[in-house]
Amino acid sequence: MVKVKLENVTKRFGEIIAADNVNLTINDGEFFTFLGPSGCGKTTSMRMIAGLEFPTSGKVFYDGEDVTHEPSFKRNTGMVFQNYALWPHMKVEENVAYGLEVRKTPKDEVDKTVEDVLDLVGLAGMGDRFPNQLSGGQQQRVALARVLVIEPGILLLDEPLSNLDAKLRVEMREEIKSIQRKLGITTIYVTHDQEEAMAVSDRIAIQNKGAIVQVGTPKEIYDKPENLFIATFIGKGALIEGMVEEVGETIKVNIGASIIEGVNTGNVQLEDVQHVACVIRPESFFLDEPDVPCNVLEGVIEWYAFVGPIIEVKIIIGSSSFMIDAPTDREYVQGEKLTVYVPKAKTIVLPWMG
Ligand SMILES: Nc1ncnc2c1ncn2[C@@H]1O[C@H](COP(=O)(O)OP(=O)(O)O)[C@@H](O)[C@H]1O
Ligand SMILES: [Mg+2]
Repeated sequence: MVKVKLENVTKRFGEIIAADNVNLTINDGEFFTFLGPSGCGKTTSMRMIAGLEFPTSGKVFYDGEDVTHEPSFKRNTGMVFQNYALWPHMKVEENVAYGLEVRKTPKDEVDKTVEDVLDLVGLAGMGDRFPNQLSGGQQQRVALARVLVIEPGILLLDEPLSNLDAKLRVEMREEIKSIQRKLGITTIYVTHDQEEAMAVSDRIAIQNKGAIVQVGTPKEIYDKPENLFIATFIGKGALIEGMVEEVGETIKVNIGASIIEGVNTGNVQLEDVQHVACVIRPESFFLDEPDVPCNVLEGVIEWYAFVGPIIEVKIIIGSSSFMIDAPTDREYVQGEKLTVYVPKAKTIVLPWMG
């Protein structure tokens, strides 16, 4: 098991800055995820941790030891890619045994270990098959088994579920998480899917244009996004534009039709007359006033859709329109007024971007 540290790590490809001064510590046994839009530098960051790419500047440490220029084969890491990269002409057990054979492990130990690992990933009894006789999910399990068999100090997973359909993705992410817990292995995961990141991670690093913009637990990042990019990238939310009217215990924001109050979750000091966005999560709207200080917003129902546990109601407030998660035990009528209550503590105020 390994603790990983990145210190001022930058990677340039010509003019492109793929990783921009990344500083991170990934704890021993932690499930840590790089999350961000396509092209933000997640794979590059992971490849530098693996030793498949080397920083232009900065350092990578494993357990305090500088491994910045160590090649990947000396780092005892296991990496699983999106496209599985299995050998089609080899049986499952041969694919999995390969890493042990190149390490000259005795035959009976190889057989036993391969059997145990196939069992761990839910492929007991399938060692005899060829990859093309397996489903996508099973192939991804083989890819995982092939890496786990060498008992890596760090498990690296780069968008491992992207080729699977939605239902299988959810199943496999639960399984990866449970295998990780069982083994207690330091795991670094890359995805552009925020829900997937929230479901599996102990902590998430949000990356944007090469730079890490926030690191935290899924809850910290969801409840306390540090800027508007993060607030809108993670989860849904209504955006209400306004100008800061007064900064006190709460931030008073003039949204045109009224003044609402919220909290600044970012690290930029807000001032009077600053252009801001109020971000409100769909589940933070209430139709009955809750027992906490609230903003009261008068909306008009534009549209609604029954989606099972809730009704998504699209409301218009001033010049903004957004969806709220509304209870299913009420009637909603298009064009009618709707008063909603939003706790001030759940009204996130952040500087406007762009
Ligand atoms: N080998 C390379 N040569 C040139 N540019 C690269 C190379 N690898 C990645 N890039 C560029 O670096 C940026 C980050 O890429 P990448 O790390 O793959 O992002 P992500 O995994 O978040 O989608 C992109 O602009 C990409 O085009
Ligand atoms: Mg990538």
